[in-house]
Amino acid sequence: MKSSTKVSVGIIGGSGLEDLLDEANHIQVGTPFGLVPSMSIGKLKTEKVAFLPRHKTGHTVPPHRINYRANILGLHQVGVERVLATNAVGALTQNLKPGSLVVPKDFMDFTKLREGTFYDEGRVAHVDMSYPYCPEIRSVLMRAGERVGQKIWGEAVLACTEGPRYETPAEVRMLQSLGCDIVGMTGVPEAALAREMQMCYASLCYVSNMAVGLQNRQITSELASIANRMKPTIREVLIGAIMSLPKTRNCVCAHALENARL
Ligand code: HPA
Repeated sequence: MKSSTKVSVGIIGGSGLEDLLDEANHIQVGTPFGLVPSMSIGKLKTEKVAFLPRHKTGHTVPPHRINYRANILGLHQVGVERVLATNAVGALTQNLKPGSLVVPKDFMDFTKLREGTFYDEGRVAHVDMSYPYCPEIRSVLMRAGERVGQKIWGEAVLACTEGPRYETPAEVRMLQSLGCDIVGMTGVPEAALAREMQMCYASLCYVSNMAVGLQNRQITSELASIANRMKPTIREVLIGAIMSLPKTRNCVCAHALENARL
């Protein structure tokens, strides 16, 4: 790896955020799990950042086919220690509306088909998920929102479904009754894989719609327009957060494997 490619902060972005970075160079990274979507290394203000478009540029990979292991390992290989993800989500509670920003505190995993660990064979590890998202990046994101006058919801539980279809009304009622606040298709296993690699990971979710049954129109049409509308705010919050990350990591994530291996 050339030293010019080394970068310690990465953003995993959903659709519509591909051109987030300035002065970007594109690189192709290979991993034992396969190729990573073309990544860009560029600048957010003064900070050097890697950007990985989760669905590939042009949005050709659906949530259940994303190679989450390659993506996390690829970021790790270029030196990334801290990941800020963005995810589109549906709101399960009437407190949230399209356009709301959420930094989830916890998640529930309803995915079915995904490779969710780097510890499949050879060595066994059970990483602790008492703090499912990096507490340090979460608080930095919340403060960045405050500074630009943007309310960010910080107590939410994310339900991650398999997709690619949306939930049924009965599934939405189930998720609500279990205590989930937002629902998306891409947050898991990203967060857990990052923890297994001892990388910090937190997510800035934007609500693109009310979940099925909570609004009387179909969801798909509004997703792209909300992403576009939210882009300047998401960019501003990410820049604010990245600029104020402490130089060294002071969180549980960096030591996640210390007591995890049997
Ligand atoms: N459900 C699941 N995933 C989503 C939604 C939703 O309502 N909106 C955006 N991603």
